[in-house]
Formats: sequence, structure tokens, C-alpha cells
Amino acid sequence: MVGSGVAGLRTALHARSYGLSVILVTKVNIDDGSTRWAQGGIAAVLDPTDTPAAHAADTHAAGVGLCDPVAVDVLVNEGPGRLRELIELGAAFDRTPDGKLALTREGGHHARRIVHAGGDATGAEVQRALHAAIVGDAGIDLIEHAMVLDLLLAADGRAAGVSLHVLGEGSTDGVGAVLARAVVLATGGMGQIYAATTNPSVSTGDGVALGLRAGAVAADLEFVQFHPTSLYLGPQATGQQPLISEAMRGEGAFLIDGGGQRFMTGIHPLADLAPRDVVAKAITRVMLREASDHVRLDATGIADLDARFPSIIASCRAAGIEPRSEPIPVRPAAHYASGGLRTDVWGATSVPGLFACGEVACTGVHGANRLASNSLLEGLVFAARIGAVLGKDLFPQADPVPAHAPYGALDPAIRSELTAAMSTHVAALRSGDGLAKAGETLRDLSIRAVQEPGPAAWEVTDLLMVASALTAAATQRTETRGCHWRADHPDADASWLGRIDVTLDADGTLQTAFNPLRIGAESDAAQGATV
Ligand code: SIN
Repeated sequence: MVGSGVAGLRTALHARSYGLSVILVTKVNIDDGSTRWAQGGIAAVLDPTDTPAAHAADTHAAGVGLCDPVAVDVLVNEGPGRLRELIELGAAFDRTPDGKLALTREGGHHARRIVHAGGDATGAEVQRALHAAIVGDAGIDLIEHAMVLDLLLAADGRAAGVSLHVLGEGSTDGVGAVLARAVVLATGGMGQIYAATTNPSVSTGDGVALGLRAGAVAADLEFVQFHPTSLYLGPQATGQQPLISEAMRGEGAFLIDGGGQRFMTGIHPLADLAPRDVVAKAITRVMLREASDHVRLDATGIADLDARFPSIIASCRAAGIEPRSEPIPVRPAAHYASGGLRTDVWGATSVPGLFACGEVACTGVHGANRLASNSLLEGLVFAARIGAVLGKDLFPQADPVPAHAPYGALDPAIRSELTAAMSTHVAALRSGDGLAKAGETLRDLSIRAVQEPGPAAWEVTDLLMVASALTAAATQRTETRGCHWRADHPDADASWLGRIDVTLDADGTLQTAFNPLRIGAESDAAQGATV
């Protein structure tokens, strides 16, 4: 198991429930991934007036024609049960005075179906509960401060373990290997390819890069979701930016332009609660029109602001903003990779024995744009399915064979040029010319190797790999769909109703291939598994 957010920890616990022993490897500390930063919540049908079909409809509408209907059905139908299991494990969600789960709304949802914890600290509570369950389980061997580098493959092409760089002290520091009968990647997203993102520093696309190098197929990489409202901390702010949850708009906050006018009304029937791509585009248009680098979110009308959104209010106050009496400056920031390593509905990638779960995976549930609060849910649902496949049968441990195409690590000094190129040319608004410029910059950076690689070099190598794959897919998709917005191709085009698969060929060149939608495919690994 590689990664320790909701997807990794939950898969580890499911695997344990089938009696398997688990080695859980994580790059820094167990709680350093994206999960603990999630604010809004987990979407699941819990209200008797709501239905899985309605949740599916909202998911498809957000995904603009590219969601896999079978995967979506799995998500919305199995989600409530997985959420109840999480509650049984000890996660405490906010409740109404009569003891029911409190449900809120976010962008793209037509019903109140989002559970939350600590007001706006849902991820922190999920992480806490799962962390507690993990440390109490003697069958899980936790290795922190270990960056996984590559998949080890057996002679028949099956996953046999991973190589990793352990950042220990003295004699434990260095490159080693963990052998395993199956490998599950739950390494999170890739927001750090951009100069400003809501993602933590560990989100450097390691799992997708590793998968590509191992021969796995990645898909939908061009669909990077920009969250409409990160807290605007000034033009030079880089790295992880504070998130201003969509749930604030769910509770009545609204966006205003430089003149104090609401601008979402009339753009979409859901106005400020339109799907995320619609809101991010509208904000970007206002910023371009006003030659400004932010808009504002008016939350002054929310009565219980401090109690309902304590973390957000603290972030605002730390930046000198008082949300009770003034609008909050916000701008879009890279937030979520809707694509990733292509999996079937049981989490299996195209490499036998290699699974992917959570943001690193592309199960097909998100399509061109993830619906709010479907991400923690996806982690919970597909973790259970991967656990079931692992529990059904595992191949015996195979001996890894030496990799035939070792790759060189890059100079960590290229990182700021890489993130600047991505933020300038491959962000919320893209064009053919800009994408070509980004591609050129990335090619120039790809030859700046280092002699003695360490974690910073491995990370930047992964960043370059995923940035190049994403740019290639974004260049190929000459239409606007979901969170892929092309100024030079402003409309959706039905001939693009399919996925762009990205692979790495034997000489290290990225290849893209357009494939019509593959609906609900299942690999052999899953035959007979049940949840
Ligand atoms: C938010 O709270 O706005 C983010 C939730 C999500 O990304 O699903």
C-alpha cells in the first residue's frame, strides 16, 4: 500500500479484514496527504427524499458526458454503506439537534447530501479516525518518510513490489525495496505541478508517474479541476493556498465582482452553486474583464459563520480579513486531478497486480469534472472493492526482474520553471499556442539531469512526467469540456466524447491515444469478487 490518505488507509483496513498483512508506505508522515485538508465533506444519499439516481444525475452533469455510468452507479449505490462503516470505525460527523447527520450542499448538487465534521474540517476527522484504526492494527507495518520510486515487475509483467528511497537517519537512509504480492497506489494528486494549488506539498503526481513508467495507462489527465475559491493571498502567493469551501456557498455565501455585483446569477440555474468548472470559468472571465487577480466571496449573511466554518475563518483572520464584516478575496487554484491511472471498477490498472485508489486513479466516476465531495467518497467505495479483490486471491510472491529502462532523475532546480510554465499555459484557461510553449519548456527541462539523485530530484522527475503527460493530453483535446477550457476551441465537440489515454513507450516517449468511452470494464482480477 503506497499512500496514507483516505484511499490508502481504508484499503489497508479492508485488506486486513480479509486476513492479509499490509506494508503501508508513505512519503512523509501518515497525516500529510490531501485528506486532512478536505473541508466540505462526503457526498452520500442519506436523506429519504434523495435518491442514488439523483446523485448519479448530478455526478454525470458535472462530468459533462465523460463519466462511466457503471462506475458512477457503484459510487452512488455503495457510498452510503461505506460511509456508515466509516462512522462505525469512529469518524464523528456533525449532527442536527435531533441527532441526525447534518447535510449541506455544494456546487452541482441539487440536494443536501454532504456530511461534514468539525464544521469545515471533515478530512481531518476522517484522517484521525482512520489513523487511529491503523495504529491499532498489528498486521499493518507502517513505513513513513519513504518515497516510492518505481514498481518492481516480475518476468511475467506482474507487480512484485516497489523500490523506495527511505529518508531515515544514518544507516537507514537510502534506496531499498519492498516485495509484495500486489501493490496499491493511493498517492493522491498532482496539484504541485502548478505554482498555486490547494494541495499539500506531497501532491507531486508520484503514483501516476510510477504507473506510466511501469507501463500502466493514464487517462483524463487534461481534466484538472480548479477550485473556484482559494483564499487570495496576493499576486506572489505560491504553494499550498487555503481553501474556502464551496459549502460556504451552500450555506448562502455568494460571489461578487469588483463593483460589488453578483455575477453567477443568470450564468447557470444553480447560480453560485453551479458545478465547479462553471464557477471557475465565470470567475476567470470576471478577472480578465476587470484586469484583476481575484474576485470576492460575500459570506457576511451566514449567521453561525464561526461555528460552521472555524478553519476557514481562522485562515481568513490570519490573513487580516474579517469574513463577518467584509467579503473574502478569492481566486481559482489547482485543486483536483479528475484523471489518473485508468482502473476498472475494482481498482485494477492495466498492469497485473497493480491497483490504484483515490485521486491517483481514474475510475471514470469524475469524467471531465469531479462533483464536489465525491472524492473522499470515491476513496471509501473503491478501497472496499480493492480489498475484496485482494482478499479473494493473490498470486504468490514473484521475483522482480531488473528494470530494462532505468530513467535518470532531474535537477530539483527546474521546479520553479516547471510550475511557472504550467500555471501560465496549462491552467484553467488554455490555448494551442500556450500549450505548445509549455510543451517546449518541459522538453527543455527534461534534459537537466542530476548525477546523485535524492528525494527532491525524484519528485521533480515525477512532476515533469505528469506535467508532460497532462500537457500532451490537453494539447490533443481541441474542445472545451468540463474543467478543460480551450480559448481557441470554446465549445464542446461530440467527436471528443471519449478518453485520451496516455502511455510511456519503451524509449521513454509519451504516447496519447483517443478512445471512445469504455463503460464499466472489469479486469480478470475482479472475477467473483463481491463487496
Ligand atoms: C470544498 O469544500 O469546497 C472542497 C470539497 C471538494 O473538493 O470536494
